[in-house]
Amino acid sequence: MKLISLLGASGSIGTQTLDIIRQHPNDFKLAAFSVGKNIDLARKIILEFRPELVSVQTKGDYHIVKAEFPGTKVTYGDEGLIETAVFDKADILVNAVLGSVGLNPTLQAIEAGKTIAIANKETLVTAGHLVLEAARKHQVPLLPVDSEHSAIFQALQGEKDKNIERLILTASGGSFRDRTREELVDVTVEEALNHPNWSMGAKITIDSATMMNKGLEVIEAHWLFNMPYEKIDVLMHKESIIHSMVEFHDSSIIAQLGTPDMRVPIQFALTYPDRLPLPAANRLALAKIGSLHFQEMSFERFRCLEFAYSAGKTGGTMPTVLNAANEAAVAAFLQGKIKFLQIEELIEKALIRHQPIEHPELSLIQEVDKETRQYVHSLL
Ligand SMILES: NC(=O)c1ccc[n+]([C@@H]2O[C@H](COP(=O)([O-])OP(=O)(O)OC[C@H]3O[C@@H](n4cnc5c(N)ncnc54)[C@H](OP(=O)(O)O)[C@@H]3O)[C@@H](O)[C@H]2O)c1
Repeated sequence: MKLISLLGASGSIGTQTLDIIRQHPNDFKLAAFSVGKNIDLARKIILEFRPELVSVQTKGDYHIVKAEFPGTKVTYGDEGLIETAVFDKADILVNAVLGSVGLNPTLQAIEAGKTIAIANKETLVTAGHLVLEAARKHQVPLLPVDSEHSAIFQALQGEKDKNIERLILTASGGSFRDRTREELVDVTVEEALNHPNWSMGAKITIDSATMMNKGLEVIEAHWLFNMPYEKIDVLMHKESIIHSMVEFHDSSIIAQLGTPDMRVPIQFALTYPDRLPLPAANRLALAKIGSLHFQEMSFERFRCLEFAYSAGKTGGTMPTVLNAANEAAVAAFLQGKIKFLQIEELIEKALIRHQPIEHPELSLIQEVDKETRQYVHSLL
């Protein structure tokens, strides 16, 4: 029985993690969880899973939940996220919170010796060097939840790093894959949220449409697999059946395939190095699918991908700026304050004005993150 603490239980990855716990009551137990503002769902989760600790975002919600569930320990805010992440009875932290707010809880959980199943890619983008350094120091496994990184992780089982030629991340292309840049000028939030293959949270769906999601994943792969950017490629694959691949020096390529279902990589992170049945997942019927398609990525069409490679290669505080500007710009787009193409304009402006600082400590990363968001807001 593994005891799980889950950050972001009310989100897309969070609810799918709960589904896995529900399907395997003898293997997993929810020990602690956090939500943001969705306390209706928090109530249901408490009643169904009876965890010991719950964290909510605001003090007001804290008082409400505490009064309703006197037998459950309730906490709130950034401190609440940390308390949930380091909850002493949990064996593994599933970090499925959205955004760089997940950084500090991840670092604290690593220090507390927790195994980390990481979905929260913004944490790795904003401060991958700190997370990996801490994980190495405390010998804590960082297990990927993102489907592309899970695919690479699976393809690398039993393989030696020295034999890797390159990593190939596949990209579905998002909601606007087949549109030209001219056709993107007046797209709506609703259209951008209509992803062809995956059902995900709003922010990552917009990131997929701008291709920033793939850019963030390139940086994530750089850290998780200790791979230089020159050896990480992105390939358009519209069916999202091959979740990513590894090419080796002898020209062999190992890929991981499956229907687009995030429960598969989430569950693999929870059962690793073992596997469990996942009855709810659709099995892949390749004969029915018939053919798979691949296409070179265009950096002119998807400018955010170029920004991410460039920020990643520059390093230091540059990826922090990339991530913070993107979080702020996507939030503004979702609120109807800017148009779709302005997301990349704002990110580009934030990147151009920033003078990167090498080897930033946590406090500097937090400062740069905050200052970048303020700058983007000042442009709105
Ligand atoms: N969705 C996917 O298929 C997928 C795939 C790969 C990787 N990921 C990564 O997984 C992470 C989560 O994505 P998602 O799609 O599950 O997002 P989501 O559906 O938007 O859920 C985000 C979760 O984080 C919580 N949250 C947001 N801001 C918070 C704050 N300031 N304090 C505390 N809690 C906060 C939300 O709480 P409330 O809703 O209660 O406010 C919710 O539980 C992201 O880093 C994403 O890139 C997602």
